[in-house]
Amino acid sequence: MWCTMEYIDDVFLSVLRSKIFKNRDALSPDYIPEVLPHRESQIRRLGGILAHALKGSKPGNVFIYGLTGTGKTAVTKFVLRRLTLKARELNVAVKYAYINCRQSDTPYRVLADIAEALGIRVPFTGLSIAEVYRRILRGLNEYKGVFIIVLDELDSLIKRKGDDILYKLLRVNEEGIEVKVSLICITNDVKLLEILDPRVRSSLGEEEIIFPPYNALELRDILLFRAKEAFNDGVLEEDVIPLCAALAAKEHGDARRALDLLRVAGEIAERENSDKVTCEHVKKAYSEIEKNTTLEVVKSLPLQAKIVLHAILLLEEKNVKPITTGHIYSVYTNLCKVIGVSCLTQRRISDIISQLDTLGLISAEIVSRGRYGRTRVVKINVDRKILVEALKDWRSITH
Ligand SMILES: Nc1ncnc2c1ncn2[C@@H]1O[C@H](COP(=O)(O)OP(=O)(O)OP(=O)(O)O)[C@@H](O)[C@H]1O
Ligand SMILES: [Mg+2]
Repeated sequence: MWCTMEYIDDVFLSVLRSKIFKNRDALSPDYIPEVLPHRESQIRRLGGILAHALKGSKPGNVFIYGLTGTGKTAVTKFVLRRLTLKARELNVAVKYAYINCRQSDTPYRVLADIAEALGIRVPFTGLSIAEVYRRILRGLNEYKGVFIIVLDELDSLIKRKGDDILYKLLRVNEEGIEVKVSLICITNDVKLLEILDPRVRSSLGEEEIIFPPYNALELRDILLFRAKEAFNDGVLEEDVIPLCAALAAKEHGDARRALDLLRVAGEIAERENSDKVTCEHVKKAYSEIEKNTTLEVVKSLPLQAKIVLHAILLLEEKNVKPITTGHIYSVYTNLCKVIGVSCLTQRRISDIISQLDTLGLISAEIVSRGRYGRTRVVKINVDRKILVEALKDWRSITH
């Protein structure tokens, strides 16, 4: 008991005493910095499109895409905040609703959020979608200004619930009320436009803005600006920022990843009572983040995929080499019997193996076995200790 108390007090003390961070929040994903290096052209483009709102006319709909961590959300929020400030200065009616479709993941939630941005209260559930829509129209009719709706991470909504909601929102302007509604849709799935209804696609894609991945030098600038706000002077060793930038650029130029590395490296330095953040701390941060991502991926796998992964681990522990689809299937069927789950066909298991490969947890290489046809040879691609940890609840049932 005492031991735990002392331990936790130590943790509090080392963070309280630490002189590493000046403002740690400046590295958090929700923080919108004053400067967004290497996004000038996207800011100008979006600003130019939305500027029409300041003259009281409806801006074109905008479709924004780019890989994860390329600044889509940060730039959009940045431009919208400036726009509404300017509108207030000029006394023009401009409002916006920002909706993250991964959090508000049903058409009802999306409409309820839009209603809320217009100051209309809608219960969490209970009304029909048509009723919420009617209330929004009524609210817009009273408001009469320009209203911009941002649908961020749109893919997660469309892929599960279809594009009816977009169709509805695009039609608001044709409902015979005095209102100017524009949509900004944001996604990291380049193929999203292709799966939309052609009518929706042509109205949404009036303006398209692409956010390319950052390279290592660009990430370095981004980190330098953020680090100035987040860390006390002289705390970062010289090579820390270039290393974070290089590690993040090696994947796909994701600024979130680069910032996470820097933040976690700072936290590790703090925990270790160090007064400097060093490259060693960055390397530790890298493996900590890697570990957490793998854990999350494995824990969120569907049950059948977990059983398949467990079968692969067991084969590896028994030193079976090479591990083929046939081996996996036979261990898998045994496991299903032990835990009382119905077995899928070998074909479905092959699909699951491909999905595990896409997630980077295993590699499944197709090899020819002469007249016996082809099979896949499977290898575990991540630190197996992490897999064991992620599957540990399971392994106790089946061992
Ligand atoms: N040019 C930049 N300057 C400073 N910070 C940036 C820049 N670009 C991105 N960031 C920061 O990187 C992080 C990720 O950016 P953001 O959330 O905008 O990415 P995104 O493109 O919306 O990614 P996702 O598709 O995963 O939603 C945020 O903390 C953001 O503030
Ligand atoms: Mg985003």
